[in-house]
Amino acid sequence: MRASLGLVFWMAALRFGVVVEAANSCVECHQQFESGASAPTQVMAHDVHIQRGLSCSDCHGGDPAATEATSAMDPAKGFIGRPARAEIPQFCARCHADPAYMRKYNPNLPTDQYAKYLTSQHGKRLGSGDADVAVCTSCHGAHGIRSKKDPQSPVYAMNIPGTCAVCHTNARLMERHGLPTNQYADYSQSVHGQALLVRGDRAAPHCASCHGSHEASRPKVVAIGNICAQCHGLTRDLFTKSPHKRAHEVLGLPECEVCHGNHLIRKPTDEMLGTGSDAVCVNCHEPGSAGYVTAQQMREAIERLNTQMTGAQVTVAQAAQLGMEVADAEFALNQATAQLTQARTYVHSFSASTMEPIAEEGIRYARQAETQGQQAIHEFGFRRHGLWMTLAILFLVVGGLALFIRDLERPNSSGKQDPPAPPHGPA
Ligand code: HEC
Ligand code: HEC
Ligand code: HEC
Ligand code: HEC
Ligand code: HEC
Ligand code: HEC
Ligand code: HEC
Ligand code: HEC
Ligand code: HEC
Repeated sequence: MRASLGLVFWMAALRFGVVVEAANSCVECHQQFESGASAPTQVMAHDVHIQRGLSCSDCHGGDPAATEATSAMDPAKGFIGRPARAEIPQFCARCHADPAYMRKYNPNLPTDQYAKYLTSQHGKRLGSGDADVAVCTSCHGAHGIRSKKDPQSPVYAMNIPGTCAVCHTNARLMERHGLPTNQYADYSQSVHGQALLVRGDRAAPHCASCHGSHEASRPKVVAIGNICAQCHGLTRDLFTKSPHKRAHEVLGLPECEVCHGNHLIRKPTDEMLGTGSDAVCVNCHEPGSAGYVTAQQMREAIERLNTQMTGAQVTVAQAAQLGMEVADAEFALNQATAQLTQARTYVHSFSASTMEPIAEEGIRYARQAETQGQQAIHEFGFRRHGLWMTLAILFLVVGGLALFIRDLERPNSSGKQDPPAPPHGPA
């Protein structure tokens, strides 16, 4: 109904040459419509382009000074109208891939989006005539485009997974391309998804941190370690120096992913290490092999540290409950925890002789905490002992005193009464 009103107006505008008096005829005329053609004007206020002084005609061409519809939207005046989907990347690239033009507005804004887009799986497929893929407007919108720093932008870090999911959870669409649709569901449950989407921790990766935004594609096996290394640098360094590096290269195994997965990365546990049923190591290493033995040794080192720490924690907690000063013991416990964290990272050296000394250092701290905790408890015992002694002495003294006083107040020990006072005689 509203759209047809628009159409009637449009036809009337064409036929009778409706005249609009305004500085920008595009806006003035379009905002009169009830829907459809007025939509772009309704979101103008927060569009970065409009905010920078650009207008409808900077994107669509035409003549904003002409008040008549036909002449304002005259192809002879460069009017492009609505670009076809397949042409949108070039439509935006006209400005965004022109460094000289963009520099006038913001010299810090990169101008590589279009070039990168052409290398993405989206861009490649669009080039071969597949209109299902993402174009600039799929991720940014066409009107009311916001800066990526704006929390309401579809490309604001926390909104990116939802933006990709619009298509990547669409089963019918993805089936045509032979792709699964579980990435968003898996990611949302992962350590990364929980950190970003639930706790708002922007250090955690979103889809584009791992795939790239404009260059988004499936990472090559050899590149997966590089992706994780952006944020887990030390782990990757250890891995690179380990015997696993070559093994992965030779066998074409994806780094990191082989043990942690990609979208559904969970919080690792000590059970992943070693030779138990939940250990990843036994998937590839036969009992007795060097890898198997190392897995066992590293797990044992972690368990020794765990056991020592648990014992120390109980002791220190007891001492604290008795009200004793345990700051030193707690400091030692914190040091032990730090060593445990580091030992878990050093699992990626895949070398027991590299990792064990770190766990040993942790065990030393845990022992120190244990000793300090026990000393505190002992001291409490001593003090309590001392207190009883003092109390006992006090009791004896008070008791003695009481006896003594009673003694003083009592009549003579011989039992005789004091002689009665002599009667008063006249003064
Ligand atoms: C006097 C009224 C009027 C003026 C002035 C006007 N337009 Fe339009 N424009 C219309 C109408 C009516 C339509 C058709 C709307 C519909 O189909 O719902 C339209 C359609 C469009 C479309 C969509 C074309 C398509 O292919 O679907 C674009 C883009 C557009 N206008 C941009 C502009 C720009 C840019 C200017 C200024 C240079 C401008 N218009 C000036 C009335 C106007
Ligand atoms: C940043 C560039 C840009 C600016 C600025 C811009 N447009 Fe558009 N416009 C587009 C693109 C791209 C499309 C195609 C969207 C699509 O097909 O998904 C479009 C589509 C349209 C359409 C077709 C219907 C629709 O909503 O998709 C109309 C009408 C329109 N624009 C009018 C306007 C008017 C009026 C203004 C000024 C208030 C304006 N545009 C400003 C890029 C722009
Ligand atoms: C698959 C989704 C997607 C597509 C397609 C896409 N973008 Fe983006 N774009 C993003 C994301 C996500 C960001 C923010 C993160 C970043 O900068 O990589 C972004 C950021 C931007 C920025 C800000 C860059 C900066 O560094 O501040 C510009 C400009 C931009 N895109 C333009 C474009 C243009 C032009 C196209 C089409 C050639 C396009 N985008 C296509 C997702 C996309
Ligand atoms: C007429 C030139 C022009 C066209 C066409 C154009 N843009 Fe822009 N765009 C700009 C300018 C200028 C800015 C503002 C840069 C600044 O000041 O930061 C901008 C800013 C942006 C930003 C915000 C960047 C940021 O994070 O700060 C995004 C996103 C963006 N454009 C996307 C698009 C998309 C998508 C299209 C196509 C639908 C498009 N642009 C078409 C000129 C253009
Ligand atoms: C408009 C829908 C749409 C949006 C939005 C979209 N994609 Fe895609 N994407 C597709 C389609 C369709 C394909 C399959 C192309 C093909 O046939 O190879 C694809 C392919 C991919 C691939 C390559 C998969 C492979 O195995 O080759 C990756 C990676 C990807 N998209 C990531 C992203 C990311 C990251 C985002 C968000 C920043 C995103 N996509 C947003 C539609 C979309
Ligand atoms: C921590 C990094 C990371 C994050 C975050 C991530 N991906 Fe992936 N993605 C990967 C890796 C690694 C692969 C697998 C590459 C391989 O083994 O071939 C992959 C594969 C894909 C594929 C190819 C099909 C498949 O499932 O194997 C698509 C599509 C995809 N991701 C989309 C997404 C989307 C959408 C998001 C956000 C909801 C996302 N990814 C988040 C790392 C990531
Ligand atoms: C953009 C940075 C970034 C990228 C890229 C990244 N991560 Fe993470 N990762 C984090 C952050 C931040 C955390 C901590 C999340 C939390 O607080 O729970 C984390 C947590 C983890 C954890 C859990 C650690 C723990 O002790 O709970 C694992 C395992 C992990 N990431 C593996 C990977 C793998 C494998 C890749 C590559 C496929 C990867 N990460 C890519 C930032 C990143
Ligand atoms: C996906 C299979 C796979 C998994 C899982 C795996 N490894 Fe390996 N590992 C290999 C391959 C292949 C080699 C190189 C060939 C060899 O020495 O067995 C190797 C080599 C090693 C080596 C060097 C052995 C030597 O000969 O010096 C150690 C140590 C090792 N792995 C430990 C581990 C530990 C610990 C785990 C569990 C956290 C583990 N591996 C998990 C495949 C795997
Ligand atoms: C062969 C299997 C294997 C590979 C390959 C592997 N990890 Fe791990 N990772 C583990 C195990 C086992 C643990 C758990 C150790 C523990 O908690 O005792 C772990 C723990 C982690 C942790 C949490 C502990 C910490 O370091 O903070 C992160 C993060 C992590 N891995 C990231 C990575 C990254 C990044 C890569 C690639 C460079 C990678 N992993 C490769 C087996 C592996």
